Amino acid sequence: DLGDHPDHMAKEIEEQPAVVSSILERVARRAVDGSMWIGLGLPGFHRLAVVACGTSLNAGHVIATALRGIGGVPTDIVVASEADQVVLGPGTLVVAISQSGETADVLRALDRFDDRHPVLALTNNLHSSLARRADAVLDCHAGPEVGVAATKTFTAQVVVGVAAMISAMVASGRIGTARAAALVAELSELPARVEHAAPVAADRIPLLVANVRKASGFLFLGRGQGLAYAAEGALKLKELSYRWAEAYPAGELKHGPLALVDEGTPVVVVDHGEHRMQANIAEVRARGGFVITIGGEGSDIPALAGRATGGLTWGASTAPWGPLEAVVPLQMLARELALQLGCDVDKPRNLAKSVTVE
Ligand code: F6R
Repeated sequence: DLGDHPDHMAKEIEEQPAVVSSILERVARRAVDGSMWIGLGLPGFHRLAVVACGTSLNAGHVIATALRGIGGVPTDIVVASEADQVVLGPGTLVVAISQSGETADVLRALDRFDDRHPVLALTNNLHSSLARRADAVLDCHAGPEVGVAATKTFTAQVVVGVAAMISAMVASGRIGTARAAALVAELSELPARVEHAAPVAADRIPLLVANVRKASGFLFLGRGQGLAYAAEGALKLKELSYRWAEAYPAGELKHGPLALVDEGTPVVVVDHGEHRMQANIAEVRARGGFVITIGGEGSDIPALAGRATGGLTWGASTAPWGPLEAVVPLQMLARELALQLGCDVDKPRNLAKSVTVE
């Protein structure tokens, strides 16, 4: 039921603050005391390998980055369809992430790994093939997602995955409960941050998109914890608007992609306060690129600006999981461009919600 919403994608974007709140109600306390992790019954691990495709892979990047930041645990990111190229080290826990739980590439990847590695599934479907195959399952609690492009399931995967990693770090003694409580308090700011991002983006995006509608391709830039969000923004834009979009670490710009930037080339920058980003933005502007910054005060979409809590301005994100709220303007940007170009945002051409062939 769409209610007042023009399409499922709009509805599912808007549901994100409520999805995050309900996840935190379920897991916050159990993340802090370690019981969320202990309840899964998995052995301890020294290394984590995330296995997924598409948007779930981007969520995996965020979760792995958070785990490295919080617990110093080494991580591998495995593109599921390339899993046969990968050798997992001893003590590796495999985290398989799939909204549908039916993605053939993910299921085949698990067949290729040695049985010694325990598998934790993070899925929106507890009755899926992946859930049955895994040694333990985390429900991402996003509710049904109808739009083919993943939106609220991405956000839900990140929040559940990060909470589980915090819990694992407490259970293994790598962090204390005080540190865990501080991290969970920071996670608890997310519903408000995500909620705050939407109206600012709704106000600015139509005009910004009108300026770049005719462009044939888009560059997305991020650094550090912002990079996975830039990748997710580029993926959403290409699947919905059928325009080329590529995400790059901003520091790589001068090693090649800057040659693409010409008068009016749209460059979307996920700016979460990394100090070197300003120089990258200046490089693009100097070549006439049309920069759309998503981030702090003074940005085109200051999704995170406007208020300050406890000394942390909403413009800068220092969280180990990066600027999760930036995904809202990125989703809205892709949707608006697709609509202005006359595309069906709920059913992009050539794509399926669940990809059950390799
Ligand atoms: C992008 C999108 C796809 C899926 C990918 C994996 O919006 O929806 O990239 O994320 O096909 O699907 P799941 O998560 O079901 O394994």
